[in-house]
Amino acid sequence: MWQDFRWGAATAAYQIEGAAREDGRGPSIWDTFSHTPGRVRGGDTGDVATDHYHRWREDVELLSALGAQTYRLSISWSRVQPGGSGPLNPKGVAFYRELLDALRSRGIAPIVTLYHWDLPQELEDAGGWPVRETAYAFAEYARLMARELGERVALWTTLNEPWCTAFLGYASGVHAPGRTEPAAALAAAHHLNLAHGLATEAIRAELGEDTPVSIALNLHVTHPADPESAADLEAVARIDAVGNHVFLGPVMDGSYPARLLRDTAHLTDWSFVRPGDLVTARQRVDVLGVNYYSTQLVRRHDGEGPAPRADGHGASAASPWVGADDVELLPVPPPHTAMGWNIRPDALEELLLALDNAYPDQPLMVTENGAAFDDELSADGRVHDTARVAYLHSHIAAVLRAREAGVDLRGYTAWSLLDNFEWSYGYAKRFGIVHVDYETLQRTPKDSALWYRELIRTGRLPTVEEAAALPPLDADDADDAGRDASPAAP
Ligand code: FCB
Repeated sequence: MWQDFRWGAATAAYQIEGAAREDGRGPSIWDTFSHTPGRVRGGDTGDVATDHYHRWREDVELLSALGAQTYRLSISWSRVQPGGSGPLNPKGVAFYRELLDALRSRGIAPIVTLYHWDLPQELEDAGGWPVRETAYAFAEYARLMARELGERVALWTTLNEPWCTAFLGYASGVHAPGRTEPAAALAAAHHLNLAHGLATEAIRAELGEDTPVSIALNLHVTHPADPESAADLEAVARIDAVGNHVFLGPVMDGSYPARLLRDTAHLTDWSFVRPGDLVTARQRVDVLGVNYYSTQLVRRHDGEGPAPRADGHGASAASPWVGADDVELLPVPPPHTAMGWNIRPDALEELLLALDNAYPDQPLMVTENGAAFDDELSADGRVHDTARVAYLHSHIAAVLRAREAGVDLRGYTAWSLLDNFEWSYGYAKRFGIVHVDYETLQRTPKDSALWYRELIRTGRLPTVEEAAALPPLDADDADDAGRDASPAAP
């Protein structure tokens, strides 16, 4: 089925599920982190989140009414295997089984991410991603999920944005577990590459060699402050190595870029890379997932003191850019979203074309793209999120241009179906195409959801202006969503 282009929406377990201590779920590093004072804005936690664990039927109806052809979700590892190793929690497994069955019965293909940042706390207590055993534990968890959920899953994704896991989690510490140890972050990156390879092997050993597997990377599009400056171009190359090729290298080519090893030689000798690891990391990737939001602007730092670091990845005295201390990450010019991230749809096209050029036979999918804005419920009961509609319009147009140009694109999943727990920003940042009232947990599709439904339904890109006049979603839409018609892309 991955020959076609499919439209969908994405979420992640810790950001939406809630029910943090229910039905046998064990704690993850995000439970610990969010409950540590000062780590998450406003002291917000995922204890309740959008309460998806109890309201998932309603959320499946929403997806169905949208006409979604895919739904990208993640499994909470500590819900299905509370300690990260050892016995499964039958209630946790049953939750995902029921959810996947409901999706499939609506004709929605589930794209299941095994790891969207919520490591079981016990594994972190044993050393976390900087230790090799975590990769083996992950592969065993992947094998068990393949056995338990098997054919219910249309496309497996091993890891979501391993860059964030390794470098925000272990270098800058703005994400769980909040450690600031640059050498450990590099070891974490390697063990994530190994984990991806081992898990892919495990899934295919359970379900067959043809089983489609993917990985979702947040690939940084980095531009030089002065395109004529060799020093600035060198700064771009540094960020490209530690931001992108640290994962693309092993996963796609079976090697680390030489310059990454050089740039980080003062921190580690990379002896955690064992013979055979890079062969393991390089498995057939049926779909390479691309998460894209904004761009970065860099310059070589020749000033005094620490280089400025306006990279949109949260404030910390420690840098996530390991081995790139002499690179300045400059404030990016407007327009910006509520995250302060710049809006550059052309750079998404640039990224897709560059990937296609580097890996011509590799199918791609945009697995995350979207924007936070300060939405308001209007007197008419609607959320007229025109800025988000405009963001989606321009970025989807860029995706379609790349597709026209011959890039093998298999789909687009908007981030996010629902407003949710935006990591260290808590509930302050709203990315949903569906609004969530955190007092009542009521869901209200925003104009962007209605616009997206119109796009899926008609197979054409509606204008931004059309959005406000589109009729609300209602239950009947679920029946005539048109998913059975041949999958449409304008
Ligand atoms: C990505 C994450 C996702 C969400 C968006 C805004 O980095 O994968 O969970 O937080 O950013």
